Amino acid sequence: MRKSPYFREFGIDASAIPAGPGRVPFSAAAAEVLEEFQPAVVSFHFGLPAPELLERVRRWGAKILSSATTVDEALWLEARGVDAVIAQGLEAGGHRGHFLSEDLGMQVGTFALVPQIVRAVKIPVIAAVGIADAKGVAAAMALGAAGVQIGTAYMLCAEATTSAVHRAALKSDAARVTALTNLFTGRPARGIVNRLMRELGPINPAAPAFPLATAAIAPLRAQAESLGSGEFSPLWAGQNASGCKEVPASLLTRELAGALEYALQHCDPGEAPQAARP
Ligand SMILES: Cc1cc2nc3c(=O)[nH]c(=O)nc-3n(C[C@H](O)[C@H](O)[C@H](O)COP(=O)(O)O)c2cc1C
Repeated sequence: MRKSPYFREFGIDASAIPAGPGRVPFSAAAAEVLEEFQPAVVSFHFGLPAPELLERVRRWGAKILSSATTVDEALWLEARGVDAVIAQGLEAGGHRGHFLSEDLGMQVGTFALVPQIVRAVKIPVIAAVGIADAKGVAAAMALGAAGVQIGTAYMLCAEATTSAVHRAALKSDAARVTALTNLFTGRPARGIVNRLMRELGPINPAAPAFPLATAAIAPLRAQAESLGSGEFSPLWAGQNASGCKEVPASLLTRELAGALEYALQHCDPGEAPQAARP
């Protein structure tokens, strides 16, 4: 990947780039740390860890969730005993959770994905699908979801650690244009299109494999951010950033949850959200 012109532009010494991954997979060491806190829910992305690690998490009584981006992935997760499956529609912000196929052409939009997974599995389905407001929650429930998982809408909340350049991008018209890119971590993730994505991608086969791309881009990102630019940063966001609000997360959650009552009252009983089924 040709980053050297950018390094020259920002006066970065490429030999100073740290080697090694920016993150590591869930491990026995990570489980040891978590076990102390005994979280009630542990949610995985990119499939599941090795069976013995999963069993360790299950032993302390945690409910186990993981994302599925296709019906096949949902069935795979159900067969391995997850307590609920997160149906991640193509609109969702952040990393795609796919793990059975790398073919992005097989990724499915929400209206197709959620009802098909709901029909295919017996466990609860949580929709993670570009939801921006209470109507979106009601729509996901009408498709049969038992609940929703929302990321983008919370990113301007005071509690979120969203960076200044990321906040500025989410508040701007730029947030209306997102794409899947592998430039920032090595795995496809949805973010607001910026200069790096326009000029090198958004998908570039030369990007270092996940998660090595994170370190490769880090000095450039840091230097640009110090100058107030998000043009080289991962600006993760879903296709619908219109629900982002600078309010406390608790207030946003109450607003979004207002849809639950509506959804439960207005659904055809035959297609009722899983949470409402007898
Ligand atoms: C900034 C950001 C970070 C995320 N990090 C994770 C993560 O660490 N693990 C995970 O399972 N999903 C992660 N997600 C994905 C969300 O769980 C969820 O699938 C997605 O946000 C739903 O779509 P929405 O962003 O349009 O609401 C992230 C999403 C965003 C926007």
